[in-house]
Amino acid sequence: MTGRYTGLVALVTGAASGIGAATVARLSAEGARVAALDLTPAPGADLDLRADVRDEEAVQAAVARTVDWGGRLDLVVTAAGVASYARAHTQTLDEWHRLLAVNLTGTFLVLREALPHLAHHRGAGVTVASLAGVRGFRYSAAYSASKGGVVALSRALAVEYAPAGVRVACVCPGSVDTPLKRGLAPVPDPDPALLAHGRALVDPPVARAEEIAAAIAYLGSSEARFATGTVLQIDGAASA
Ligand SMILES: NC(=O)c1ccc[n+]([C@@H]2O[C@H](COP(=O)([O-])OP(=O)(O)OC[C@H]3O[C@@H](n4cnc5c(N)ncnc54)[C@H](O)[C@@H]3O)[C@@H](O)[C@H]2O)c1
Repeated sequence: MTGRYTGLVALVTGAASGIGAATVARLSAEGARVAALDLTPAPGADLDLRADVRDEEAVQAAVARTVDWGGRLDLVVTAAGVASYARAHTQTLDEWHRLLAVNLTGTFLVLREALPHLAHHRGAGVTVASLAGVRGFRYSAAYSASKGGVVALSRALAVEYAPAGVRVACVCPGSVDTPLKRGLAPVPDPDPALLAHGRALVDPPVARAEEIAAAIAYLGSSEARFATGTVLQIDGAASA
């Protein structure tokens, strides 16, 4: 393992589980000091921050605490997220708002607070969107809208902050074997044709969280100097 992150400080949201937890482990193994932000404890992180990404004051406090603790901020990874399936014509407004608030507004709040600190050290933000944010996905109108927003937000920030030396990149995983994926309740009586749509072509048709974390670690590193505004799909040819 290379020490691409030796001496650097990272903040990872959604760090207690799945892709976020794998990212904490990967960045730590590469030498970073890692602050973890989640609703629940994140074992393995150097600094464990409890916050809801929807809560503006809590996010401000968590980013400030990270910089106080680490003395700098070089990388922010926004992996906190929630998902649910629904037929669009039965989608409740409450659930629509919940997915948009956590996935999109939460990503915005964390990046907004981090950007001035990232600019001090030519740092980077890596967002976690989804294949559902770049292509049509069944029973996922709210989730897709939230993740499409994350893709657009990432591109906009990449352009706006390039002159300040801050890179912003986005990963769009297909199906990843995590508690989120395993816990998703299907819609009743799904259409088999729609279930086949967007399936990965590799065997097994799901990624491991560590495989997504490896891509995040590349995009956040100095090796990825030219990779800003990048939207990296990792989906087993589901969208090829
Ligand atoms: N698993 C997949 O198939 C898949 C595919 C594409 C994209 N993604 C995205 O990857 C990201 C990570 O997903 P995962 O599969 O690792 O899920 P996960 O459920 O394993 O982990 C998500 C973490 O986010 C935290 N979280 C949720 N709401 C939060 C909030 N309001 N504030 C702070 N933390 C909160 C949870 O506590 C959890 O620890 C999500 O944004 C998800 O949408 C997942």
